[in-house]
Amino acid sequence: MNSTKEVVNVQFQGESHEVDITNLTKEERIFVKRLSKMVKIDKRIDPNRIPRHIAFIMDGNGRWAKKRGMPRTFGYSEGVKKLITVVKRCADLGVQVMSVFAFSTENWNRPKDEIDEIFRLVRENLDKELAEYQKYGIRITTMGDIAKFPDDLQEKIREAVEQTKNNKRVTMNLCVNYGGRADIVNAVNRIRHESHGKMQDKITEEQFSKFLYGADLPDPDLIVRTSGEQRISNFLLWQMAYSEFLFIDEYWPQMDEKIVDRCVVEFQKRSRRFGKV
Ligand code: FPP
Repeated sequence: MNSTKEVVNVQFQGESHEVDITNLTKEERIFVKRLSKMVKIDKRIDPNRIPRHIAFIMDGNGRWAKKRGMPRTFGYSEGVKKLITVVKRCADLGVQVMSVFAFSTENWNRPKDEIDEIFRLVRENLDKELAEYQKYGIRITTMGDIAKFPDDLQEKIREAVEQTKNNKRVTMNLCVNYGGRADIVNAVNRIRHESHGKMQDKITEEQFSKFLYGADLPDPDLIVRTSGEQRISNFLLWQMAYSEFLFIDEYWPQMDEKIVDRCVVEFQKRSRRFGKV
């Protein structure tokens, strides 16, 4: 029997914690080991008021690349790398759901090359990073109509969702071919379809929301848009009823752990009243 004790040191809010990881599960050990190496969590963050769900509009990939003399598609390939950085940081902070606006219903109007490159990156990301998503306990979910995507891409997305469905640490919700208005209209059509022409007279908000994409996820507490643009662009229209908004100047490929922390600090400065005084 191996009786060697394995202890790692984790810094949290200015204090040092010696964590005995000898008897932890594989997933727990990876988590604590990563914690021991990670950038210190911003001391201003109150661990008791972490947003449950942060949704990101990953804007400015193209502009970031152009400013560096590179084609717009370079911005996407750098941008996609930040998904794992951001989702891991969210998990480390205790955020339960991270949503990203990866492809909107309006993005079909972009040049075909650009659309193909985004699809290629989604494929590549799910191929390359799936093992890491598994290791880190990341569950992948989607919102949006993926039936419009090429067959192989649909298959890859379904596989990633299926293979990660039991992961518990954090949910990475990919909004793909998603639009807030389409989400609402789709819900109405589903209600009509499922009631077989015998729709009830009245329906409550709660009943309605069960027909929206991502019905099992909490509404976003915080929506962050990168690149300085201050628009919603048809994202999560129903779900954002009480979300806080943050528009930050950095382009999406510049995202890192410190910026995620700063977003949480800003969120915690807000006083959320949900319509009450
Ligand atoms: C807008 O930025 C962003 C998008 C249209 C989507 C970005 C998609 C990815 C980074 C890949 C997603 C991959 C996975 C696996 C989910 P923009 O580049 O249009 O910004 P601009 O305003 O600078 O042109």
